[in-house]
Amino acid sequence: MKSIVVSAPGKLILLGEHSVVYDRPCLVTAVGQRMRVKVELSNEAEFQLEAPDVQVVGYKKSISELGKGEVPKGAKFVEFAVKNFAEKYPFKQGLKIETTSEFSSKLGFGSSSASTVCVIKALSELMNLKLSSKEIFDLAYKTVLDIQGKGSGFDVAAAVYGGTLYFVTGGKVIEPLQVDSLPMVVGYSGVKADTVTLINQVKERMLKEPEVIENIYNQITLLVEEAKKQLLKKDWQKFGDLMNKDQVCLRQLGVSTDKLDAMTNGAVQAGAYGAKLSGAGGGDCMIAFAPLEKREEVAKNIEKAGGEVINIETNVEGVREEK
Ligand code: PMV
Repeated sequence: MKSIVVSAPGKLILLGEHSVVYDRPCLVTAVGQRMRVKVELSNEAEFQLEAPDVQVVGYKKSISELGKGEVPKGAKFVEFAVKNFAEKYPFKQGLKIETTSEFSSKLGFGSSSASTVCVIKALSELMNLKLSSKEIFDLAYKTVLDIQGKGSGFDVAAAVYGGTLYFVTGGKVIEPLQVDSLPMVVGYSGVKADTVTLINQVKERMLKEPEVIENIYNQITLLVEEAKKQLLKKDWQKFGDLMNKDQVCLRQLGVSTDKLDAMTNGAVQAGAYGAKLSGAGGGDCMIAFAPLEKREEVAKNIEKAGGEVINIETNVEGVREEK
């Protein structure tokens, strides 16, 4: 039967995390480690999934039961993506799906969103619907919200469009920015962060001290707008200053950790233009922008602070069919 292999990139947010959940902008880049999904049509009206990277092996369900009953954590995004697709564009065939990831789900590169995007793109091609990027984004973002209840969708946009994007909550604006590559060094903190827990933590503070949080979000928004300009000019020194200021805001929000602070401070001391946590905070990764001749020293300092340096390409292509 007909089959297709599709891949989509992971992401790292450059500036604007947290405030982007509340109708504000962020900057995000797609990274060169990809999620791969093979979808094969079959005659039995059954959904079969193999996702060994997230301990899902030999998982089967009838198409009419999708989304019902107990769904294993590792199967959720793929299963709900198929369910949402089938509700909008009904089909009769069964599906055999296999997912593999070039990156560990612990890094916070957005493996769930990337696999959701892959499934929708694959089904769109297999059913000859040729959905546009925005249609794929909308269906994938709906899927993420159905499962997580929260999130701006910036990770979904990075997986669909690739490159480096200026993005506003829910895809109100998705603007690709013309840059070749970014002078980025990435450090993993060794701690897995839970995005929804951190969003809720900030929300609780917002209920108690709305003005304080609103004020921080306003500052972050100004930093993002300025950073967009400097990114287009490739003025990495100015961009780095804005990253440092954003890190101060994130510390005020209460989402940084001693380890992330030590890693970012170490990077700046070694001559990085700037450094900050990337993502929800609480763990996952930090990023530094650094001149070529300082990269090695920056990497060393990140490791001294207990981080693991991850070599990664930035600004890579979005979801695509693999021939
Ligand atoms: O933890 P990550 O990398 O998924 O990033 C979360 C960024 C937030 O702004 C906190 C949430 C969101 O969906 O935008």
